[in-house]
Amino acid sequence: MSEQLDRNLALDLVRVTEGAALAAARWMGRGDKNNADAAAVNAMRLLLGQINIDGMVVIGEGEKDEAPMLFNGERIGRGVQDTDECKPAQLVDIAVDPVDGTRLLSLGLPNALAVIAIADRGAMFSPGHVVYMDKLAVGPAGRGVIHIEASVADNLHALARAKGTDDVGDLTAVILDRPRNQKFVDAVRACGARLKLVSDGDVAAAISTALDGTGVDILFGIGGSPEGVIAAAALKCLGGDMQAKLWPRDDREREYAQQDGHDINQVLTLDDLVRGENVFFSATGITDGEMLRGVHYSNAGATSESLVMRARSGTVRRIASTHRLEKLMRYSQIEFGA
Ligand code: FBP
Repeated sequence: MSEQLDRNLALDLVRVTEGAALAAARWMGRGDKNNADAAAVNAMRLLLGQINIDGMVVIGEGEKDEAPMLFNGERIGRGVQDTDECKPAQLVDIAVDPVDGTRLLSLGLPNALAVIAIADRGAMFSPGHVVYMDKLAVGPAGRGVIHIEASVADNLHALARAKGTDDVGDLTAVILDRPRNQKFVDAVRACGARLKLVSDGDVAAAISTALDGTGVDILFGIGGSPEGVIAAAALKCLGGDMQAKLWPRDDREREYAQQDGHDINQVLTLDDLVRGENVFFSATGITDGEMLRGVHYSNAGATSESLVMRARSGTVRRIASTHRLEKLMRYSQIEFGA
């Protein structure tokens, strides 16, 4: 592997998610999802443009006509323009979620995150127009023992055994609270496992299955497809496991899936969602949550907390930062609202 490929891009990425979180956090509780998201997108795009990568947005803010920035297919990074042959930029796929949990942020609720993942070019699954995926995610103990086509009960029992307990009641499942997920809720309750329903933010929910101290063991249910790919990148870094299946809502989405060459019956493994080990991930808390502290302000500036990871090395960093906003504002084009 060349020195260029060996660079830990995750350490570049943390500046990107910190910037997005700082820009968005001023919008907390203001009931304005769109402006909060726009602030994060703008900051993320500016900062991504400064990294020496030749990036292709695979999971972005939507198709070109609908999203003016960070749209699917957009090429971004300093390496896109830079032709300095001594330092060839790494060709990468990029998955962004400038705010996962726009509603959470707009209402000041916990667990809104700014998230980004990078992998080798061509390594990320592109769900195309299929908005939702059925997902199953676990931490390292559950790696290789879960199967999305097995019943909820079988998966819970297999995970309980892998975690060294025979009592499914020791496990806590997390599910996105939506009518479409009621069958999972009923099945978890029928087994006697504990359940945590979340109103939004299944990226944080999936990651929490693989982190100590969150009290969550397994994620079931149907949520956003883009968020599924991002969660897979994080679980790859954490040594967890995930499987998914596209969940088209109607015939039109079924047709789109077919046109994109997707088999909607295929079980997408962790490696199908994000191939290889050259995967980098960063998330910064916007509002306080179980996993990450959100952005806090004081007369000294702002503080943030990020989770920064790399699959190949398995290194997981928590980075607590202090930001002097009045200094940043002197040269940054980002509106941090000092
Ligand atoms: P946004 O921040 O884009 O609104 O996404 C929040 C989220 O809860 C995701 O975490 C989840 O995957 C998706 O929405 C679920 O979609 P829906 O709200 O349509 O059920």
